[in-house]
Amino acid sequence: MKKIILLLSLICSLSSGSADIFEGLDNPRVLPMLQDLPYERGGMNIPAQDGRFLYDLIIEKGYRRGLEIGTSNGYSTLWLGLAFQKTGGTVITIEIEPQRAREARRNFKKAGLDGVIDSRINDAFKEIPTIKGEFDFIFLDAWKPDYIRFLKMLTPRIRPGGAITAHNVISQSQSMKDFLDALHHDPDLKTTIHKTSAAGISVSIVRSK
Ligand SMILES: C[S@@+](CC[C@H](N)C(=O)[O-])C[C@H]1O[C@@H](n2cnc3c(N)ncnc32)[C@H](O)[C@@H]1O
Repeated sequence: MKKIILLLSLICSLSSGSADIFEGLDNPRVLPMLQDLPYERGGMNIPAQDGRFLYDLIIEKGYRRGLEIGTSNGYSTLWLGLAFQKTGGTVITIEIEPQRAREARRNFKKAGLDGVIDSRINDAFKEIPTIKGEFDFIFLDAWKPDYIRFLKMLTPRIRPGGAITAHNVISQSQSMKDFLDALHHDPDLKTTIHKTSAAGISVSIVRSK
């Protein structure tokens, strides 16, 4: 009996948790994809609660120009795209592996977000120098040991008040010690670590000079 009660309360907490994640999202094309993206190549996507966290951050701060490193099949980008659609902004996402990027493009089109999301197929280290201007939101979700190089390359390109965010800062902290150390010691960044899921997301806001 005790086991059944425990199981029921677990099911209730899981289902009420997932209801909160999608609360207030009324886009009928994107919502089913955020709830259950039918990826062809499997995994690697951020959990829905992490997507919701980034969505809320972009809208709360009114960010208008985003950049994502590591598109995969585009699940996280759908969350970002939906947020930038609300703020009137756009997001560039970069994926090195063509097959994943092509799947992502199909997903963006199906979601009706291909006008908000600019998908690039390239090594981000080569693509970034070809992109002009500043960003106010960046999401790192590529190979973890590369985060430090992306941080050095991109921090000078974020406007004051903008954010550089990164995924897996708890679950894969061992693979990015140099990055986490740099975040915490950079006087120009105010960093907080959020445990929205077991993966962990860092949010580093660029201070005004
Ligand atoms: C964890 S997956 C991204 C998952 C995606 N953000 C999501 O949540 O839906 C990481 C992706 O980064 C890509 N990647 C790794 N290094 C890259 C680089 N230098 N430039 C562009 N993409 C890269 C990989 O091919 C892989 O598809």
